[in-house]
Amino acid sequence: MASAQAHNYTRADIDEGLLRYRASCIGCHGSDGSSVSGIDLGRGKFRRVSTDEELVDVILNGVPGTGMPPTFLTRPSAYTIVAFLRTMNDANERRTIAAQFGDAARGRTIFENKGGCIGCHRIRGQGGRAGPDLSEAGLTLRSIEVERAMLDPDADYPLASRPFRVLTKGGTAVRGALLNQDSYTIQIRDEHGNLRSFAKSDVRESGPVKSPMPSYRGRLDAQEMADIIAYLGSQRGVH
Ligand code: HEC
Ligand code: HEC
Repeated sequence: MASAQAHNYTRADIDEGLLRYRASCIGCHGSDGSSVSGIDLGRGKFRRVSTDEELVDVILNGVPGTGMPPTFLTRPSAYTIVAFLRTMNDANERRTIAAQFGDAARGRTIFENKGGCIGCHRIRGQGGRAGPDLSEAGLTLRSIEVERAMLDPDADYPLASRPFRVLTKGGTAVRGALLNQDSYTIQIRDEHGNLRSFAKSDVRESGPVKSPMPSYRGRLDAQEMADIIAYLGSQRGVH
């Protein structure tokens, strides 16, 4: 597939293409790309096209006179779908849970029952408040980010947005947002909005507060996580 090498697609392109494929193509072409007879998108089996550029043209313009409709995407967005199609059957790619196809209805059941996610996350007004509202997860989070949040809730958090805790040698614990730290001092804004500065020599321990969200590694299998990813991908807010 010479044309696949001609473009250097990034991980982010492939992730975005997967979401776009789910949103615009999966209904007709199916989760493995082979639902339209004679065409197998993941294995490069097409009727008229072969290069990446030709694929982009078909995605944008459709095939007039057939069931293949035009789409209202920008050209760069169409390229992300091609990036995804080119890796659809790549075993390495499919090893990421986010690249597997989940079932949103099953995902909802797991979200609300076995996974216990609803205890901390709200979707359209229902659920707990310990974690962020996920009613728009399908618009704001890429599937790979949902996967990471489930596997590794403590990774990947910009330090500034995560509560920080200082425990002094005197036994005082203060929580707040980390503003600055250097070799000698730590400055945080505490929960009451006050600036607090600590000499490191007076501090017993300090660091980001661990996420209250448990890791689901080993608690949910890959298919269950893929189902939840599909469910959250379908949350696009209230219209
Ligand atoms: C409403 C159903 C429908 C949707 C939605 C749809 N397709 Fe298709 N697609 C078809 C049909 C039917 C064909 C076969 C056209 C023909 O008769 O040759 C086709 C053909 C194709 C082909 C082969 C073109 C060729 O002639 O070799 C590609 C590639 C393709 N679709 C990609 C996509 C992608 C990517 C998306 C999402 C952006 C998409 N399609 C959305 C129904 C659909
Ligand atoms: C005990 C409470 C709790 C449970 C249970 C929980 N979460 Fe979370 N989750 C959080 C909190 C709190 C955050 C905010 C970030 C942090 O502190 O890690 C979060 C963050 C997330 C994020 C990232 C949101 C963003 O905007 O970046 C996703 C996605 C997520 N959770 C999905 C899930 C799913 C799916 C489940 C169930 C399989 C689940 N959570 C279970 C508390 C929870």
